[in-house]
Amino acid sequence: MSVTILVGTQWGDEGKGKATDLLADQMDFVVRYQGGNNAGHTVVAGDRTLKLHLVPSGILYDHITTVIGDGVVVDPRVLLEEMDELGTLGVDTSRLLISTNAHLIMPYHLELDRVTERYLGRQQLGTTKRGIGPAYADKVSRIGLRVQDLTDEKIFRQKLETAIKEKNAILSKVYNRLPLDPEEIATDYMRFGARLAPHIVDTSAVLHQALRDGKRVLLEGAQGTLLDLDHGTYPFVTSSNPVAGGALVGAGLGPKEVERVIGVTKAYVTRVGSGPFPTEDHGKDGEWMQEHGHEFGTTTGRRRRCGWFDAVLLRFAARLNGLTELFVTKLDVLSGLETVKVCVAYRYEGERYEDLPPHQSILHKGEPVYEEMEGWSEDLTQARSATDLPAAARKYLDRMAELADVPVRMVSVGPSREQTLEAG
Ligand code: GDP
Ligand code: IMO
Ligand code: MG
Repeated sequence: MSVTILVGTQWGDEGKGKATDLLADQMDFVVRYQGGNNAGHTVVAGDRTLKLHLVPSGILYDHITTVIGDGVVVDPRVLLEEMDELGTLGVDTSRLLISTNAHLIMPYHLELDRVTERYLGRQQLGTTKRGIGPAYADKVSRIGLRVQDLTDEKIFRQKLETAIKEKNAILSKVYNRLPLDPEEIATDYMRFGARLAPHIVDTSAVLHQALRDGKRVLLEGAQGTLLDLDHGTYPFVTSSNPVAGGALVGAGLGPKEVERVIGVTKAYVTRVGSGPFPTEDHGKDGEWMQEHGHEFGTTTGRRRRCGWFDAVLLRFAARLNGLTELFVTKLDVLSGLETVKVCVAYRYEGERYEDLPPHQSILHKGEPVYEEMEGWSEDLTQARSATDLPAAARKYLDRMAELADVPVRMVSVGPSREQTLEAG
């Protein structure tokens, strides 16, 4: 039993990159299991700040093998750019493995992501426009191209021809766009394939062998529980399964190996893009979180919507992922607020909902029921153990754990590795 799953418990950007980088120290493999370069994971090590999109957050350690698993969608152009950029920073990417089964994001996926969002108008999802949804849609429709196709030009061209006929018809006839040139795509992708070939393997088989050899594996989620295609705030979700169940599918592992499921939880909540967000604060407190937490999207630079900590969502995430522990981030951002609020339920038409309501309209229209707790003014960024935290901050953490019925194990009080403490 040496698999640890790390998942976001909110709408993404909980600090998974930092948590993964920190835990990677005790791991041998770090695996991305879903999503694509819609993710933006920030890792701060010494004076280096890395913004990773596809490459797993364990990349900074020499002893780690990083893996892009079967469930990921890979834009090979972006992956190579990211690897090149890491190379210029002196980071070794030679041990990065890419699953032969992962699906490819193709240029028409990017184009379709853009035009369909425009077509939706006011109903748009606010996607990252990285082609994620269209690539997963083709995977499910069984007309996707996979990483392994990059190494067989004949097959690649055959599959591309089939797919692009339909895509170009849609682009030109429905959306009035210019058709894409399959020749240009094939030439580019064969070039990408030649560079990526040494990294392409059966990653599931590699991970099975590693576990047999007693190695430790961390499965790093992208996005978050409420962005899960099946369990999140549909349709305002991403097109994959970030939840712990998805981790096993996406990495090609079975459940008996799993030892820990860590839920990364921000001390407040943020969301980028459209969709319900019951505790969103449009006033000065939300602005405070946005400003003090530097809440801008890592991938798109968009301003993140901010609001109070929501225990209803965390309880839901705990249940859905089978969380064994919490890794709480950004507690430092709340320093200086006179009172801090915790949403313990929603109220709608006289009913109180302590669990996620059965109909999403209630999430849109329901009012959060808050508990107000005493705030703290002390700067937390230098805290290195639980005893360094003021009593009010400790109480806040205790209440989080109590409401979610999951223990808080680690607390982060700043972006860098050192700014982390064990919850005691
Ligand atoms: P991810 O997508 O879950 O990996 O999160 P992001 O990297 O997109 O966003 C989290 C942001 O918060 C990054 O800029 C991190 O460097 C930063 N961060 C992480 N943990 C902390 C923390 O405890 N305190 C503060 N102030 N910033 C943090
Ligand atoms: P990390 O891994 C926050 C959001 C988008 C949009 C919705 C669908 O950094 O936490 P998509 O491009 O996936 O089809 O967009 O999902 N979204 C994220 N929000 N963090 C992310 O990743 C996200 N990845 C996608 O803003 O609302
Ligand atoms: Mg992010």
